[in-house]
Amino acid sequence: MDDQFERLGAARRLIKGVLTDPVGNYLPAPWLKGLLRLGKSELAAANWADPGGWRSMVISYDGRPTQIADKILVHGGTLSMALRNRLRLASRLLTSLINTAEPPARALCLGAGPGCIILRAMAQADVPCDATLVDLNANAFAYGRELARRYGLSERVRYVQGDVRDIGKMLDYPPSVVKMIGICEYLDDSQIVEIATRLAEVMPAGAPIVMNNITHKHGSDRFCRRVLGLHMNHRDVGQLTALMSMAGFGRFSVHDEPLGVYSVIVGYRLEA
Ligand SMILES: C[S@@+](CC[C@H](N)C(=O)[O-])C[C@H]1O[C@@H](n2cnc3c(N)ncnc32)[C@H](O)[C@@H]1O
Repeated sequence: MDDQFERLGAARRLIKGVLTDPVGNYLPAPWLKGLLRLGKSELAAANWADPGGWRSMVISYDGRPTQIADKILVHGGTLSMALRNRLRLASRLLTSLINTAEPPARALCLGAGPGCIILRAMAQADVPCDATLVDLNANAFAYGRELARRYGLSERVRYVQGDVRDIGKMLDYPPSVVKMIGICEYLDDSQIVEIATRLAEVMPAGAPIVMNNITHKHGSDRFCRRVLGLHMNHRDVGQLTALMSMAGFGRFSVHDEPLGVYSVIVGYRLEA
């Protein structure tokens, strides 16, 4: 995947507004599900098996689907384009945080999936970095280990199966940077505050955290809910940073990807 952000030109915005979003959002869900089954959509199947799971992310990130239904969803869908933009933006920010961290740089990734974002960031960094990647779903780890091998980072990653709320028990060192991309939108407010509170207990003051919100700008929430079974919590930046502030984070900076769907937010663990 190249480093250039994906954007929607005027013609594509028009088609999206008058055709694809209304069709996806308002045609009967059984028809759309039937079409996706007929088109052998791997993206839809991945979401039906594990809504919002790591596999559907990888299909969007990879951007080279074989089935026609997936070519439409992955290349034409705003959400897939925004996901790739988020990957580019978050990995770029993480690279610069790794480069400026007090050595040795140690990343902690929550709800990491296979680790596509942190591995890309580590590969582009000028200094070595170790990473602990935590996910409930260990199915992501074989794919992640293979990706790490291709980047030459096998010795630097540790995959841990577990709930991020138990993070205190999984770490044997304080992290220099924490990545929490692709998870807050699947959590309710109280879960975010609980996880942030656990994190604040293990992060040194001044350490950064990288997270994201999601807005309604993708225009396909009804499609996601009715057809893919994907129930995301949309929040503006202020709502997400207010939750993180309750757990002791602050000094937030906001970085928008150009489609306006995701903001990637960098915050810091404040002095207690
Ligand atoms: C949408 S995927 C994101 C994967 C990766 N961070 C990315 O952005 O590509 C969300 C991941 O969070 C994991 N997850 C959700 N809740 C979790 C929890 N409480 N503890 C650990 N992992 C969790 C899921 O298993 C899933 O792999």
